[in-house]
Amino acid sequence: MEYQLYATCPNELTDLLAREIVSIGGRDVRTDYRVVYFSASKEIAYKAHLSLRMASRICRILKEIPAQSPRIIFDKARKIRFHELFDATLPVAINVFAANDGGKISNDLIGSKLREAINDCFKYYLKKTPNRSSWNAPIGITGYYNHRRLLVSVDTSFESLHRRGFRVEGHPAPLKETLAAALLTVCEYDGTMPFYDPMCGSGTIAIEAAQIAINRAPLIHRQKGGFGLEYLHDFDPRLWQKIRKQLMADERNSKVRIFASDIQSQYVDISRQTVKNAKLVNMISIEKKDFFKTEKPAEHGLLIANIPYGLRLNDTQISKEYLRALGDKLKNSYKGWRCGILAPVSAPLKEVGLKPLRQVPFLNGTVPVKLLVFDIY
Ligand SMILES: C[S@@+](CC[C@H](N)C(=O)[O-])C[C@H]1O[C@@H](n2cnc3c(N)ncnc32)[C@H](O)[C@@H]1O
Repeated sequence: MEYQLYATCPNELTDLLAREIVSIGGRDVRTDYRVVYFSASKEIAYKAHLSLRMASRICRILKEIPAQSPRIIFDKARKIRFHELFDATLPVAINVFAANDGGKISNDLIGSKLREAINDCFKYYLKKTPNRSSWNAPIGITGYYNHRRLLVSVDTSFESLHRRGFRVEGHPAPLKETLAAALLTVCEYDGTMPFYDPMCGSGTIAIEAAQIAINRAPLIHRQKGGFGLEYLHDFDPRLWQKIRKQLMADERNSKVRIFASDIQSQYVDISRQTVKNAKLVNMISIEKKDFFKTEKPAEHGLLIANIPYGLRLNDTQISKEYLRALGDKLKNSYKGWRCGILAPVSAPLKEVGLKPLRQVPFLNGTVPVKLLVFDIY
């Protein structure tokens, strides 16, 4: 059985995610706006849910239907055999999103046509009225409306995949785990060298680095019932357990040292608790330190710093002097290290005074940012 799937992610991540999907055995991989399409056996599809580091959601395509009018949407969608996919008792959420040039029918109207089609299907085949609630629904039916066509899918992730399940709240500007994984990928981090985040906030990047170092599938500890695919009629619990066990067996011991620090003791506490929840205490050491007073913790390694900006601080506070001091610190104290600096594009980044090896744009929430990568000699 080959599934047609797509994984969603921010648009800047599609190429990186496509490579990740190829690396776990996905086939026919193709990128589009904010999605990566692929096909996969059930085994690879299960693996994708547990091990992709940069995917936000994974959806299984049910059917692509013409969508010239609400009537046509209903007529075509009611032919999808929803009753063979999930149980009538389960709450179903319906999400519709449209490409910029999607068409003239509103997302709400498309959503209500999909809901009618699901109801009609269960009534016709099973003489049952399906659950009408969409609250905390493990079944997500997604419609993607583009060029007067509607791609109808079932979202098999349930909760977004960036939620690894161990974050401690309290930091005002944590990165999404999927973005942290992308930063490490852009810096070519393979988990064999020391890693240091000297402005770690809640510890997101250090934790992703540690998970790479021990080859841990990032969603392996999500609780039973935490994925949408577990609620579908074709869910194969034996295969699921087999894949989980394989992934756990693939985890390796690592002597690689991961360091994190922050100038604020309350964020050091948050990071420590998050690292504890992630069961990575033995790998990651966290200290309270001012970056400008640090020394490199090993001869060679990778440093990534998501410098402060945004929610609380005005971007303009990233002054020329601050960036000059940052560049000087890297030059003077981090010889032999690769250093990635994530900063808003609006900052005067030339002032760092180092020639970047590469510069990669991202969106951090709504803030356009850039990862500048430097090799310090
Ligand atoms: C944008 S936040 C980092 C968020 C982090 N990437 C996460 O995912 O939670 C920037 C952090 O830098 C810290 N910071 C600011 N100036 C610092 C300095 N001179 N030395 C060390 N940390 C600093 C702040 O306390 C803040 O937690």
